[in-house]
Amino acid sequence: MTNLRDIIDKLYLYNDASDSELYTLICDRDESTDEYLFNLSRKVQQKVYGNKVFIRGLIEITSFCKNNCFYCGLQRDNECAKRYRLSKDEILACCGQGYDLGFRTFVLQGGEDSYYTDSYLCGLISSIKNDYPDCAVTLSLGEKSYNSYKLLFDAGADRYLLRHETASKELYEKLHPSSMSYENRMDCLKNLKSIGYQTGCGFMVGPPFQEAEHLVIDLRFIKSFRPHMVGIGPFIPHHNTRFKNYSHGSFDLTLFLLGLIRLMLPEVLLPATTALGTVDPKGKEKGILSGANVIMPNLSPLDVRSKYSIYDGKLYTNDEAGEALTLLKRHIKSIGYEIVTSRGDSKIIN
Ligand code: 5AD
Repeated sequence: MTNLRDIIDKLYLYNDASDSELYTLICDRDESTDEYLFNLSRKVQQKVYGNKVFIRGLIEITSFCKNNCFYCGLQRDNECAKRYRLSKDEILACCGQGYDLGFRTFVLQGGEDSYYTDSYLCGLISSIKNDYPDCAVTLSLGEKSYNSYKLLFDAGADRYLLRHETASKELYEKLHPSSMSYENRMDCLKNLKSIGYQTGCGFMVGPPFQEAEHLVIDLRFIKSFRPHMVGIGPFIPHHNTRFKNYSHGSFDLTLFLLGLIRLMLPEVLLPATTALGTVDPKGKEKGILSGANVIMPNLSPLDVRSKYSIYDGKLYTNDEAGEALTLLKRHIKSIGYEIVTSRGDSKIIN
């Protein structure tokens, strides 16, 4: 039987391993394997990005969503969800505050909400690019047609985040209603990349029904898709969803996957996500020490933050709060890293 460390060495040297080797790693890892991996994933992270951590200012523009993803607290059928929409002026004010704090990327994130038409969003994007020409605009607004994605790109959007959620069609269908399609999600990702967006995909770790074999499929997909960014975080139950009685995904396995992804795609941008920080008080720092190099603090207006409730216990103060950047900087410095305010474009060429 191959030693787990040999597989990790192979990943370090060749940025890949076979499916069965990845499966073995995921199933058989223990604390000492984790440490062995993180030493190498940090080495790669340091070689590519030094000790720099990029920040992106997250603006959650709408909590309305037309979809019904089984795991998400913002699903349409959750009648208890508090809904809000930010106006263009409110969003621009968030950008202004973020700019003054040092943010040079704004991520407009939201549920799938047809209130924000293509022309509304194009106007918004051009205003942001006009007011802050040195900033990148990232969109994270779900599935749209090729034409819509193209219009938004031509209006100035630079990047798009759309988690694939799972690269297994079988698991996808257990996590989503039949009105949503695995094929469409994958097509959206391909379209985004072909239009020229710096594109982010990603998945949850430990949602109901996920097995090690599904994670291998995710890693294989990520390796072949070559995204610019990969967002992963543990599944966390939301009390108004059908998954309310499941437990959250494993923190340690999430860190392990961050390390694997850093070895498989050395140049990828890898956020230490809010979900990671939610299941462990030192989640962000541990994420960075496993190979992550991006943090996305919240710039949404304070009064709406608690309403963007995709899972229970989602954080929006301290290290998650854009306005508390000094605190985050201190925490990141304490582990030997440094927050930088450059746009931090991906080194991966489309
Ligand atoms: N737990 C963790 N992550 C979640 N997401 C949605 N619901 C949950 C949950 N319950 C993630 C999904 C989605 C992103 C907005 O948040 O991956 O793409």
